[in-house]
Amino acid sequence: MSLTLLVENNPRIESFYMLNLATWLGLDILGKKKAEFAIKLLESNAADINLIIVRAVIEKEESAQLMIDYVKKKALKIPIVVIGPGKEIPGSFAHVPNSLQLKILIQSAAKALNITAKDMSTKVVPDYFPIPINYFKVIKRSVCPVYSQDIDNSKQYHLRIEKLSNFDESTINALIEEGVTHLFINKLDRLDFVNNVTAELMNLLESSELSPDEEISAADKSVELLSRKLLTIGVNEETIKLAKKNMEVMRRNAKSNPKLAKLLERLLSNKTSYLFKHTQVLTYICLHIIKHIDWGNAEQEDKISFIAFFHDIVLETDEQAMIKSNLELKKANFSVAEKQLVERHAQMSAEFVSKYPHSPMGADQIIRQHHGTLNGIGFSEHYGNNVSPVAIVFIVAEEFTRIILKRENGPFDRPEMLRELKEEFPTSRFQKVIDILKNITF
Ligand SMILES: [Fe+2]
Ligand SMILES: [Fe+2]
Repeated sequence: MSLTLLVENNPRIESFYMLNLATWLGLDILGKKKAEFAIKLLESNAADINLIIVRAVIEKEESAQLMIDYVKKKALKIPIVVIGPGKEIPGSFAHVPNSLQLKILIQSAAKALNITAKDMSTKVVPDYFPIPINYFKVIKRSVCPVYSQDIDNSKQYHLRIEKLSNFDESTINALIEEGVTHLFINKLDRLDFVNNVTAELMNLLESSELSPDEEISAADKSVELLSRKLLTIGVNEETIKLAKKNMEVMRRNAKSNPKLAKLLERLLSNKTSYLFKHTQVLTYICLHIIKHIDWGNAEQEDKISFIAFFHDIVLETDEQAMIKSNLELKKANFSVAEKQLVERHAQMSAEFVSKYPHSPMGADQIIRQHHGTLNGIGFSEHYGNNVSPVAIVFIVAEEFTRIILKRENGPFDRPEMLRELKEEFPTSRFQKVIDILKNITF
């Protein structure tokens, strides 16, 4: 038997680690809450363990150090992957400081176990992929159909939960009482399903449980989750709560980083998506302008950060978010549905905002027109003369964000960047706003 030993005390993180490592790499995982308990297990079963993943520090225990010392003392040949903030510890196989960067964790585990990308792609996966039933307690609906297996005749599968239909915990508890331990999904749905459950679990983590870097990763996932939920279930209590939480994080990140370069560095080092990055930087720029413009006040601050948060909310991928003209859209290698989504994203996002309770006055209109067309369909290079002052701030900020992200690693030649921006918007109403960006600190 070959097992991975996971030493982690946060039940939610433990839960999505197990699900992801099992799905991506086919690992069997045994969890322990502390190094102390993990070492007890190794004392009798070390031969069964082929990999250890351990949180650097658990409560006051130096967990990773203890595991490394033990493995060394016993001369065991078990690679150790350390997760969580802190310095790299000599003797570890790899260190993943941001424990929500699952991709890096999975890559490190694969490397430690000599599992290649080819192994992963040629691995035989059963048509109906088993998921431990407890995972269904953290979701209210599944992104794909869910099946149960006949207890007497294990070859038979029955549809239990339809795609995106609501179910509650009591349904799952009843199945557990029936003796069901696993539910099944079509193997082609598994990565999507796991990604969704992971996002739901990450979303349950409190900011007090996370390092600032982890909070960025959690927010990135959470916004992706919101976008998907808006498209499937629309504006309701659940999506409003999620939106509020994420808007707050964006504002906090913008305000707690006095220097823009510092914020960019954090976004880059945590490999956030372009979608997330551009919304976060945009919020920063918008708030900066409002702070320095003569008519700026708290109400306008709320309004502009609301608009920045929602303007592209229906977009799903980075490639979609980078499109800024009809020509680029025409040339893009998108499916018909994807092209339609990008073409109509301003209109669709505005539609959600108009249904959002107490949304700031006029926010929907600015979102609808953020690519220059009145109805929010397609892209136009020209903005009409009757654009509102807040809309001008937003349009300038979005273009400046694009210019910044083009050279995200610096150097940030501010005069050059502002020149580029002024060329885009030659009229004086825009130029006045652009002038405020002269005092932005990188
Ligand atoms: Fe955008
Ligand atoms: Fe947009």
